[in-house]
Amino acid sequence: MSRTVYVNGAYLPEEEAKISVFDRGFLMADAVYEVTSVLGGKLIDFDGHAARLARSLSELDMQSPVTRDELLAIHREMVARNGIEDGLVYLQVTRGNPGDRDFAFPDPAKVPSGIVLFTQSKPGLADNPAAKVGMKVISIPDIRWGRRDIKTVQLLYPSMGKMMAKKAGCDDAWFTEDGAVTEGTSNNAYIVKGGTIITRQLSEDILHGITRAAVLRFANEAQMIVEERPFTIDEAKAADEAFVTSASAFVMPVVEIDGVKLGSGKPGPVATRLREIYLDESRKTAV
Ligand code: PDD
Repeated sequence: MSRTVYVNGAYLPEEEAKISVFDRGFLMADAVYEVTSVLGGKLIDFDGHAARLARSLSELDMQSPVTRDELLAIHREMVARNGIEDGLVYLQVTRGNPGDRDFAFPDPAKVPSGIVLFTQSKPGLADNPAAKVGMKVISIPDIRWGRRDIKTVQLLYPSMGKMMAKKAGCDDAWFTEDGAVTEGTSNNAYIVKGGTIITRQLSEDILHGITRAAVLRFANEAQMIVEERPFTIDEAKAADEAFVTSASAFVMPVVEIDGVKLGSGKPGPVATRLREIYLDESRKTAV
């Protein structure tokens, strides 16, 4: 069945949804994005994603084509039109189509930014069997640019990282810089040692995960101890357990790093509990 895709104000069958070859998102990766999960037909952490989108746009001097309320209405309309029970809404805002290729940003008064949304149906997203087994990760050097806090569509190196992981018989890669883990290819990274949850502090080095913010809030509320600081890949290999968070994976246990099994080699109790709490609590506030 053809999906309905949103392009600059119009809801179109996916075959008819088109943007220009001169769009700066296509030519320059001059675009930002968000991925919001849908559970039971409702949007998870919508406000966090809308707020981060506004921040990404402002850091790049890009204009928002819609208000927060319009964005929510478009998200909801997309979920309804595509009959999404469980899945994802992908949103991309680009600096638009200046009609030619030029390194300089176009005048926003003359070239409006563009907006595209599409959905991905993933029945049973919250019951992903991978959460029962856990993921295997490899570590690779973080050679991405220095503003990883801005959610741009420059995803070539993260895609390469994912392929390196697959080639090594693993599920994902963790990036390291100066011996310390920054984050996963498309998720934030955590280890657990002696009951303490350790994750890198927010800076321009990592994406400020919306799931991360919620999970750390729930961990604090559950009286778990959280340390926000860099951790080395060696420290990670010696950890009791590890996990990642993202809008599409929620809380996903990691059971092996560079071939080294963590603890029993099975998903740990902290990751398992946080996954349950996150899914329960975020469903309650879903819109
Ligand atoms: N990725 N770090 C990176 C590099 C990411 O790409 C993502 C999200 C995260 C987690 O952020 P959040 O919790 O807000 O989803 C951390 C999305 C899911 C993606 O690219 O598909």
